[in-house]
Amino acid sequence: MTCEPIPFLDLRTPHRELEAELLQVLQEAFRTAGFVGGPMLKDFERDFAEFCSTRYCVGVSSGTDALRFALMAAAVGNGDSVVTVPNTFIATTEAITQAGALPEFVDIDERTYNIDVDKLREYLESKCSPDPRTGRLISRRTGRRLAAIIPVHLYGQMADMDPILALAENHNLVVIEDACQAHGAEYFSERQNRWCKAGSMGHAAAFSFYPGKNLGACGEAGAVTTNDEELARRLQMLRDHGQAKKYFHAFEGYNGRLDSIQAGILRIKLKHLAGWNEKRRLSASLYAQLFASDTQQPAPDTLHSTLDPIVPPYEPLWVKAVYHLYVVRVQERERLQAYLSEHGISTGLHYPVPLHLQKAYENRGFHQGDFPVTERIAKEIISLPMFPDLTVEQQQRVVATVKEFYSMNKNVL
Ligand SMILES: Cc1ncc(COP(=O)(O)O)c(C=O)c1O
Repeated sequence: MTCEPIPFLDLRTPHRELEAELLQVLQEAFRTAGFVGGPMLKDFERDFAEFCSTRYCVGVSSGTDALRFALMAAAVGNGDSVVTVPNTFIATTEAITQAGALPEFVDIDERTYNIDVDKLREYLESKCSPDPRTGRLISRRTGRRLAAIIPVHLYGQMADMDPILALAENHNLVVIEDACQAHGAEYFSERQNRWCKAGSMGHAAAFSFYPGKNLGACGEAGAVTTNDEELARRLQMLRDHGQAKKYFHAFEGYNGRLDSIQAGILRIKLKHLAGWNEKRRLSASLYAQLFASDTQQPAPDTLHSTLDPIVPPYEPLWVKAVYHLYVVRVQERERLQAYLSEHGISTGLHYPVPLHLQKAYENRGFHQGDFPVTERIAKEIISLPMFPDLTVEQQQRVVATVKEFYSMNKNVL
């Protein structure tokens, strides 16, 4: 019997289901010739700001531009350093470099795969020193002013924002959330005694609407959210050639606007986002149950033991993750991935090479061993199929095939 392939991500079904509504967006754009700016953009920006519980949303052309513009609007750039994690997509550091700053790294937490706040504190206290004149931190490695932190809410789970924000306040640092994988994720802030949405906690946050994201456009798109009116104003100018009024340019900006058609499409899809995220959360808990049925689970407070063949994602009580990706840690990763592929199951690796070891950064003075947790997990993680329409049968087949692989390979583990 040949089985239907299981895709890593099914982008066709939601578009088939929403086709009639999405076509109306195109018809409206054709009828009004409203391709740039206009009500479609404004309506989406208003709705997405409301979804994120922020005062402002500024639509831009990609998540990378959202990060770059957010840094620039917050006056982070030439001569600065910005600290982030090496376990992220390169867009995070590209934006830092393109804004004129240099990326610095802090290792990740072994269980959440997000920034390790103890290591961030250690970095700020022992790898930076205060400028005797201004009191601002200077990175010892780069000799530059440390201006900002970019916590990345990777795989759909928010970083531990309370201590990050407290450290940033103590050291006068801007916080730009990389929420490109975390639309709708939540964090329980003890400081505020309430649940907070991804994108609402830092000075500004960047979202990507790349098609495969939890909220994806039908092409490239992104947005910045913020509660700061002045920052929002600068973002609106940065994305539009530095102008607030046509042909009056206060500074040189960029052509980084969000297309109206994409904004219209995103607005239709936004109505479904909470439901889609809920389905992803249900699929994640089903995966965890299926893996747990005869796989040893790590106790919540123990680190990955080399005896566990599969370590499912860890979701602390203080977050509601939206599972942009369902990432497990495994042994014999390459062989498992090949076995799944032979059985028609597509998987991904997010990410196989830590940023500090990428060729793009080979001359930046980073070395193997600098960020051991990221380096170790990069060899062990695999992303399993995850999308809102994933069926119970598909999940059962994925888990059964993973288990079959390990039972056939007991002797090598
Ligand atoms: C963590 C992270 N940051 C930034 C980006 C950049 O977004 P975009 O591809 O829309 O430029 C992505 C998108 O893949 C991402 O996953």
